[in-house]
Amino acid sequence: QVASLADRYEGKFDIGAAVEPHQLEGRQAKILKHHYNSLVAENAMKPISLQPREGEWNWEGADKIVEFARKHDMELRFHTLVWHSQVPQWFFLDENGNQMVNETNSEKREQNKQLLLERMQTHIKTVVERYKDDVTSWDVVNEVIADSGALRNSPWYRITGTDYIKVAFETARKYAGDDAKLYINDYNTEVPSKRDGLFRLVEDMLKQGVPIDGVGHQAHIQIGWPSLEDTQASFDKFSGLGLDNQVTELDISLYGWPPNNAYPTYEEIPADLYEAQAERFDQIFKLYEGLGADLSSVTFWGIADNHTWLDDRARQYSGGVGVDAPFVFDQDYRVKPSFWRIID
Ligand code: G3I
Repeated sequence: QVASLADRYEGKFDIGAAVEPHQLEGRQAKILKHHYNSLVAENAMKPISLQPREGEWNWEGADKIVEFARKHDMELRFHTLVWHSQVPQWFFLDENGNQMVNETNSEKREQNKQLLLERMQTHIKTVVERYKDDVTSWDVVNEVIADSGALRNSPWYRITGTDYIKVAFETARKYAGDDAKLYINDYNTEVPSKRDGLFRLVEDMLKQGVPIDGVGHQAHIQIGWPSLEDTQASFDKFSGLGLDNQVTELDISLYGWPPNNAYPTYEEIPADLYEAQAERFDQIFKLYEGLGADLSSVTFWGIADNHTWLDDRARQYSGGVGVDAPFVFDQDYRVKPSFWRIID
């Protein structure tokens, strides 16, 4: 039995993995129990999974993950109460079935806004009441900032302005209680324009008394990007506001973005790429350790290289043959060079 990742970082930060309900068996379950002390659902707790039609709830997959975490005494992150993607379209239709975003009459626009906020509050209340004894950290809103740093022009924003963000946090706090940790989660938080846009929003929300406890940094990163300086700056910036940081969706792609058409097959991935990835894992975990109390959790967006969302895009850009390999366990659940670099 090799050394455990969770033990290695005990007292510093939690080590988590994103899972699908079907991954809680066999070898994957063994790895989870040994190496991780925190879980998050990769898809099973998104609005489209939990409430596909208004008032119709589907708890099966989500409950499985909660039970596994409970049984093995793991922390649970919740992903995600509000998002512009993987949200069923009924949220944004008025009572006549029309798209709320197209409404021009100002009185009707106000009615639509209230209806959408009510639906969001019902969703949050129902979910939070069910899982509040198990979940320790909540992604309340996900990806509300555009790459430019402006507020994302999603249906949520177009219908309610920034009120949905405010009301989402207030509702989560109301039902989850004061001990719950509430996060605003986003990708590319290292990129200065995006980081600054997120910072402006969070600062403004805190001034208004909105209960935000921390920032979730997704960290879908690559071997050569972003720089360690930008990464460090993104944590420092938010801890300067008195907020916690969590790394919520870590994976280190072997490739750049956008990719070229030269994705190798799994068997053809050159050993030096794995070495470069290991070096990158080493540097990034040193940085994480250096953050001390400013970082409470590091979650990988998967367990092993046999299951990663990055393969969808790898296949798409390589005529279906290429794959990525972003984790510290390989496709057969063996440890990679990266594993040893973050253990040693
Ligand atoms: O469930 C259906 C299944 O019924 C159907 O047969 C199949 C056919 O394509 O699709 C299945 O749904 C897929 C779902 O994953 C579950 O596997 C969706 O097509 C697919 O788009 C979806 O992708 C997920 C993606 O979010 C959606 O935007 C990825 O697994 C998931 O890793 C990814 O996670 C996001 C985070 O939530 C937010 N940050 C970025 C991260 C990576 O994109």
